[in-house]
Amino acid sequence: MSQTLSRLVRDAEDAVPITCVTPDSWPSVEAALPLPQAAYARATDFAPKAGRIALLPGDDGRLANILFGLGDGEDRMLPGKLPGALPPGTYRFAPADGVDAAEATLAWLLGSYRFGRYRANGSERPALALTEGVDGEALARIAEAVAQGRDLVNTPANDLGPTEIEAAIRAVAARHGADLAVVTGADLARDFPLVHTVGSSSPRAPRLIDLTWGPADAPRVTLVGKGVAFDTGGLDIKPSSAMLLMKKDMGGAAAAIAAADMVMGSGLHLRLRLIVPAVENAVSGEAFRPGDVIRSRAGLTVEIGNTDAEGRLILADALALADAEAPDLLIDFATLTGAARVALGPDLPAFFTEDDALAQAVSEAGLACADPVWRLPLHKPYASLLDSKVADLNNVSGGPFAGAITAALFLRRFAPATRAHVHFDLYGWNPSTKPGRPEGGEVQTARLVHTLLSRRYPKA
Ligand code: BES
Ligand code: MN
Ligand code: ZN
Repeated sequence: MSQTLSRLVRDAEDAVPITCVTPDSWPSVEAALPLPQAAYARATDFAPKAGRIALLPGDDGRLANILFGLGDGEDRMLPGKLPGALPPGTYRFAPADGVDAAEATLAWLLGSYRFGRYRANGSERPALALTEGVDGEALARIAEAVAQGRDLVNTPANDLGPTEIEAAIRAVAARHGADLAVVTGADLARDFPLVHTVGSSSPRAPRLIDLTWGPADAPRVTLVGKGVAFDTGGLDIKPSSAMLLMKKDMGGAAAAIAAADMVMGSGLHLRLRLIVPAVENAVSGEAFRPGDVIRSRAGLTVEIGNTDAEGRLILADALALADAEAPDLLIDFATLTGAARVALGPDLPAFFTEDDALAQAVSEAGLACADPVWRLPLHKPYASLLDSKVADLNNVSGGPFAGAITAALFLRRFAPATRAHVHFDLYGWNPSTKPGRPEGGEVQTARLVHTLLSRRYPKA
């Protein structure tokens, strides 16, 4: 397990128990406490409200028991608050009614993450001893994949360009014995003109990264992630306030990589493909311009209405590659539009699909693992907002309406053969710390996709 997460240990001998309590269970829990502990809880005004913590001493004055209030149980990631709140030491979740120990353990791990690349970050974290029956290895794999994705998002663009995105995927491929192909240079210019066009503004060479794993005859699942190492907006340059956070514009790639890592780590029965177009959208004399017209990989010509709508351009070529083999399931992840954030806020990624049954399965998988999303419509009549007078389509609509939907409709044009296609428009960032979700880079929808795929293509 990496340094960025709290340790999971097996031996629970002297671990301090954490007793989770709800308003319903509190009276009986309180009644069963040793009298001095019950008195201490009362004296310190403990109540079973969401996130409340009481550190109860034993007769010898040492920490003997932790009370943790769950409130109405609405926030299932609440135990993720604990690693940041408890003193160093080893703890374990005591069995309690209505508490899913595996979920609490995952919340703990996700909440223990800190970004430590540039300085030692804070004090020693408490360790967690595994509860009987909880698959610690499976949970650690998931938390590790999330932590690595968060590290990628948090790493500033001076240390994370297209090369480093490739290196991160190479490392995951090596760990799981996956194959990797990378297209750059003249080959990229010929075969992925939109990726080349966007990425040519930067001295840090653009590339198309293509990982495959698993038996060729298994169901085909392809994940595509937007890998914009930094988004200045290009010649349609962003104002500084909008550019400030744009190191996170590879948050889609981070989510796709994390999902792929989880899928391969769990050995699911599928043939996985992970495609990441990796670029920097920079400003230079080599930069593409508003009004340029480019023939995409799919053959459609695209007029550039705005160089800041670069994500859909690089995804278009990546989706065309994916679509050529018409996979059984195609999922793309992207920090694609500000409009999706305006509609749903930072914590709730939008998703789009034409397949109602698949949409239901996506929503359910998100609920099951507390990685929630919300569906928005692929409203076909809005496709005309992307009409161009000189090319097959424009990369933006002229007006202020339905920006997340028109972006999704743009993408759909490039994967016509694939029926089961899910597009996630995500934010990739926690604006402030919440339980299990430390402020900074966030990996959204990867656990959802892992849950969805685990249900559809379980390990043989
Ligand atoms: N990376 C941005 C979208 C974004 C901005 C996501 C802020 C999350 C937070 C994307 O490349 C972009 O700039 N989109 C433009 C599209 C517009 C020019 C049609 C946007 O949303 O403003
Ligand atoms: Mn942009
Ligand atoms: Zn972008």
